[in-house]
Amino acid sequence: MAVQISPSILSADFARLAEEAKVVEEAADWLHVDVMDNHFVPNLTLGLPVVQALLKHAALPIDCHLMIEDPDRHAPAYAEAGAGSVTIHAEAAKAPVRTLRAIRAAGARSGLGINPGTAIEVYEDLLDEVDMVLLMTVEPGFGGQRFLDMVLPKIRRTRAMLAARSARNAAAGVSGGQDREIWIQVDGGVATETIERCAEAGADVFVAGSAVYGAQDPARAARELRAQAENATVRAGWRAGH
Ligand code: DX5
Ligand code: ZN
Repeated sequence: MAVQISPSILSADFARLAEEAKVVEEAADWLHVDVMDNHFVPNLTLGLPVVQALLKHAALPIDCHLMIEDPDRHAPAYAEAGAGSVTIHAEAAKAPVRTLRAIRAAGARSGLGINPGTAIEVYEDLLDEVDMVLLMTVEPGFGGQRFLDMVLPKIRRTRAMLAARSARNAAAGVSGGQDREIWIQVDGGVATETIERCAEAGADVFVAGSAVYGAQDPARAARELRAQAENATVRAGWRAGH
């Protein structure tokens, strides 16, 4: 999968969301929407009614990042509403298999979010249930935080785990729908100074809030981030054995 850019509207003007979505329409692949419930994280943003309204006005597919305490109960509704991707947090889900399957059954891509202090290895058995692993590169809750370099080894380990999975599938003759490519998304502090490190480590979907919406020209910022990530991916060559 090529590099994808998902601008986070957390740093946009909440009173003008439709216009803010339009500004990045040509330059981005997704619109990242952060749902926070003031329990899983100490911040409150928006919920299903706002996502439903945005779905009517935004041309880009919606990438819902649910930072909520009870994703098992609430996540399927975001997929049923028409979000293109719905990510739940590993730390919050009590029945991740059921919830990830419900997200897919409703027609969305399923995502599993992992906080900076959570290891990826214990979730290896869930990989067949997910279309994307979201590795948080800050503690979730707020935009504009400093990127955590400590997550880089985990990005590399996740990329290696996915490559090993593909190799196993190929050896076992598993192909087509059974061997889907799983994306690695990074979220938090992703900007000009940090995006290349993420791409080199193996990420392919990049969320950027303040680096896009804090810029004079958000579309241009998104395009520049994409170019940087693409160059870094080519340099790193992790895709070669993939
Ligand atoms: C933080 C959110 C992020 C946030 C990133 O918990 O999940 O999506 O918008 O913002 P920046 O890119 O400014 O760190
Ligand atoms: Zn997010």
